[in-house]
Amino acid sequence: MRLSPVFQHMLVFISVLSLTRVQTTAAPAIFYPFGSAAGDTINAAVDDGSSSVIQLLSPFLFFGRTYQQIYVNNNGHLTFNEPSSQFVPYSFPASRNQDIIAGLWTDLDNGMRGVVSYHQYTSGNVLTRATQDINTHFPNLNFSASWVFVATWDKVAYFSLTNTETSFQVLLISDRNSSFILMNYGEIAVTTHRVQAGYDTINSTHYIVINGSNSGSSISNLKNSSNVSVSGRWAFRVDGGQQISEVNPTLSSTTVSTVTAQPWTAPEIFYPFGLTVGDKSNPVDDDGSSSVIQLLSPFLFFGRTYQQIYVNNNGYLTFNQASNEYVPYSFPARGSQDIIAGLWTDLDNRLRGVVSYRQYTSGNVLTRATRDINTHFPNLNFTASWVFIATWNKVAYFDLTSTETSFQVVLISGRNFSFVLMNYGDIAVTGHPVQAGYDTINSTHYFVIPESINGSSISNLRNSSNVNVPGQWAFGVDGGPKSNKEYITGLQAKLSSFSDLTDTGNIQTVLQQIKQELVKYGLPNSIELTLRNVQKIKP
Ligand SMILES: *[C@@H]1O[C@H](CO)[C@@H](O)[C@H](O)[C@H]1NC(C)=O
Ligand SMILES: *[C@@H]1O[C@H](CO)[C@@H](O)[C@H](O)[C@H]1NC(C)=O
Ligand SMILES: *[C@@H]1O[C@H](CO)[C@@H](O)[C@H](O)[C@H]1NC(C)=O
Ligand SMILES: *[C@@H]1O[C@H](CO)[C@@H](O)[C@H](O)[C@H]1NC(C)=O
Ligand SMILES: *[C@@H]1O[C@H](CO)[C@@H](O)[C@H](O)[C@H]1NC(C)=O
Ligand SMILES: *[C@@H]1O[C@H](CO)[C@@H](O)[C@H](O)[C@H]1NC(C)=O
Ligand SMILES: *[C@@H]1O[C@H](CO)[C@@H](O)[C@H](O)[C@H]1NC(C)=O
Ligand SMILES: *[C@@H]1O[C@H](CO)[C@@H](O)[C@H](O)[C@H]1NC(C)=O
Ligand SMILES: *[C@@H]1O[C@H](CO)[C@@H](O)[C@H](O)[C@H]1NC(C)=O
Ligand SMILES: *[C@@H]1O[C@H](CO)[C@@H](O)[C@H](O)[C@H]1NC(C)=O
Ligand SMILES: *[C@@H]1O[C@H](CO)[C@@H](O)[C@H](O)[C@H]1NC(C)=O
Repeated sequence: MRLSPVFQHMLVFISVLSLTRVQTTAAPAIFYPFGSAAGDTINAAVDDGSSSVIQLLSPFLFFGRTYQQIYVNNNGHLTFNEPSSQFVPYSFPASRNQDIIAGLWTDLDNGMRGVVSYHQYTSGNVLTRATQDINTHFPNLNFSASWVFVATWDKVAYFSLTNTETSFQVLLISDRNSSFILMNYGEIAVTTHRVQAGYDTINSTHYIVINGSNSGSSISNLKNSSNVSVSGRWAFRVDGGQQISEVNPTLSSTTVSTVTAQPWTAPEIFYPFGLTVGDKSNPVDDDGSSSVIQLLSPFLFFGRTYQQIYVNNNGYLTFNQASNEYVPYSFPARGSQDIIAGLWTDLDNRLRGVVSYRQYTSGNVLTRATRDINTHFPNLNFTASWVFIATWNKVAYFDLTSTETSFQVVLISGRNFSFVLMNYGDIAVTGHPVQAGYDTINSTHYFVIPESINGSSISNLRNSSNVNVPGQWAFGVDGGPKSNKEYITGLQAKLSSFSDLTDTGNIQTVLQQIKQELVKYGLPNSIELTLRNVQKIKP
């Protein structure tokens, strides 16, 4: 790099960088950190080669067998007992004597192009990210990753097809008892070589073939496919153990038949509610409301800070005054009130059901809210300090005595952040008009949950989500920058070699190096750094 002596040993303060999630030609956002920048060990660039034996820092449970070692084979697959130079895959299920995990088993040649590398982690941000991903893809496990193994094939050519580039990752993730595989697919070149993606066990007691992966001509679709609603990602639980039961443990199969009244188990997504956890109940009054509720912590809603709230029986929250409106208006209404509507419709708690609420400033509810928000909004390092839960439990619609509708609105805040979670249980269909979402004064911000404008399709609320958790919707509502996935950060960097930072090319090089560092700390590879300002603070 060309140097200007003036800048020798200077300390540069890059005052503000804006980090924006944008699509770049770099690795896809779903990729975990990899490559030499992430400290990976790199396989020898040898056609049909493999890593040496890799001793695992934590044993890996794979359908009942526990492995202490693994091999990363250049031809796109992992084996446990011995390395494999096989460049023609067999088809799964093969009923062979081998456990195998194939990101994309085919004839790859890193002697020609690309890098095969791997890394295992037992601490740090990669574990945090894996924990979030597994809890998102497999809700209700309360999973906490203690070990992550990342194997990456980065822009590797197919054998004899010099100009092809194919990129994918295989991640192994475990805690003490459960284990998971994530496959991440980037650009996958088409090929005439045979291919196979998925896994297969000894005697094929368990196996998966990823859709489209038995034909090289359709293989490029891998980057668009998923079994977890994240393009390019496939997620599998592979310990072989039982999934944690989601049924009420007090209902054993022998007692079920003797139970006369159907016991009500709230959905897992519901936060604690009801008199047993100390909720206050609203008056039993058609179109009634709570009294004014003084908030134990102010709530920031798109720039306005509220100290009080009302829980209205007809399914929504207002801040300045109680509301008995039982016919919702449509959002955006460009009206004069801020409103949060779990399900604004003509409900009647005289006929049936309980409307109740409670606020929390400590305890397990805050822990749960912290975990949920960090899962749904990664990279905020959020800590909840206040949670408000309003629950409509089995409330009837007006005039429809036998209907039962259950949902929650959860307000969560911490530092300057505030969030709304909506949790939907069983929602009865209705001929009454309905509205779910939120709307602000003058509708500067609003959201209508799909399906919620039509009472006949409203029962789908329990299956829909914007965070891949059926029945749950999550919104950032402080109005701060994270609502549009934009983060502003400051960082101080000491440059150990010297470069003329008035030169645009040098700036790009420095930004790339800073980016690599940030990615090492767990930020997505798709971040883009732009320079706002360079300030020389020491000659
Ligand atoms: C989740 O796991 C943590 C430990 O990893 C434990 O402290 C906590 O009680 C668990 N929460 C639930 C709801 O099971
Ligand atoms: C692992 O399984 C054992 C026995 O099944 C159980 O006692 C232990 O609590 C489990 N640990 C975790 C972290 O789930
Ligand atoms: C696989 O099948 C063979 C033949 O049926 C049997 O001898 C062997 O024990 C099986 N291996 C495992 C691990 O189940
Ligand atoms: C896959 O997605 C890309 C954009 O990400 C699109 O251009 C391409 O047509 C998609 N391919 C298929 C087969 O859907
Ligand atoms: C991923 O897909 C397979 C079948 O294609 C399924 O068995 C597995 O449970 C899926 N994972 C999730 C999280 O749904
Ligand atoms: C895989 O393909 C099968 C058959 O074409 C289809 O039913 C299934 O929904 C596909 N799974 C995913 C996750 O795309
Ligand atoms: C996360 O926030 C806590 C305080 O809430 C702080 O102690 C910790 O350093 C933060 N971690 C990161 C990675 O920003
Ligand atoms: C909260 O917001 C105020 C004013 O916008 C700002 O000065 C402060 O630094 C923010 N604090 C945090 C922890 O984000
Ligand atoms: C809403 O719009 C009206 C009319 O344009 C304006 O007078 C008022 O200040 C706006 N209110 C807010 C909070 O922006
Ligand atoms: C509501 O849904 C029903 C049944 O799907 C449909 O016939 C009706 O047109 C819908 N109404 C509106 C306003 O979308
Ligand atoms: C919603 O999910 C339930 C099971 O949780 C299922 O019985 C029902 O058919 C689903 N409804 C729709 C519209 O997908």
